[in-house]
Amino acid sequence: MNELLLFATRLARETGAIVQGWQRRGITIETKSSTIDLVTEADRAADAQIVRAIRHHWPTHDLLTEEGGAEQRGSRWRWIVDPLDGTTNFAQAIPHYSISIALEKAGELQLGVVYDPVRDELFSALRGDGAWLDAPWGRVPLRVSRATALENAVVATGFPYDKATSERNNVAEFSRVVRRLRGIPRMGSAALDLAYVAAGRLDGYWEYALSPWDMAAGALLVREAGGVVHSVDGSAWSLQSPSILAANPAFAPTLRQALLGNG
Ligand code: IPD
Ligand code: CA
Ligand code: CA
Repeated sequence: MNELLLFATRLARETGAIVQGWQRRGITIETKSSTIDLVTEADRAADAQIVRAIRHHWPTHDLLTEEGGAEQRGSRWRWIVDPLDGTTNFAQAIPHYSISIALEKAGELQLGVVYDPVRDELFSALRGDGAWLDAPWGRVPLRVSRATALENAVVATGFPYDKATSERNNVAEFSRVVRRLRGIPRMGSAALDLAYVAAGRLDGYWEYALSPWDMAAGALLVREAGGVVHSVDGSAWSLQSPSILAANPAFAPTLRQALLGNG
């Protein structure tokens, strides 16, 4: 296996064990940008573990982690990490959250790992080399679904932490499609939502106002599994994009038009 991918998968699993330890022991919950934007000791401990490991093995690489911020060393390589994606679920003991680790080189995503420590499912992708799921029951390649019609599609989404005050809160888009889709789960981990699109478990996913660490690994997973990733308005997606839509290539235009109220 690629040395960097092997490092990232091991690190995701080790961090998963730390997170699960905090889940068993119990956590104190604090708030960040608003009363609904939470952080726990598990988020901080997971972040610190990942930063320590990257600094030890790849001391010259740049870093961006949710709890640790950006560290620039003038490298072409940059790790982009969400140490615990799905903190609201984690804080409520809802068993659906993940660790997301991505690596880019000169602005291009090279690898992505999303690890679900509850189910022990590890989703990984290497640029140009496909995407895989390693689960307790075996290893399978990831492939996006073949759904093409809204009524046959299960599409996940999420709502931003400033939804009470922001007009860009996804409520209008949600209302436009909720009656037309087979199902519309709000599962609470953007990284796992994207991994599930890659695995064909979800037919699509969209969300606004995410951060680079929410999207980086999952976006590469979707692309390497044969899916497309762009902004909700159809423009090219980047880590800075204010929205993301992921689906199989045949279904993405249908979902986009429906969300925008054009189809
Ligand atoms: C959040 C989750 C959630 C999404 C939020 C994210 P966090 O990340 O990915 O699914 O709807 O927008 O901020 O705060 O749990 O790392
Ligand atoms: Ca997140
Ligand atoms: Ca997080």
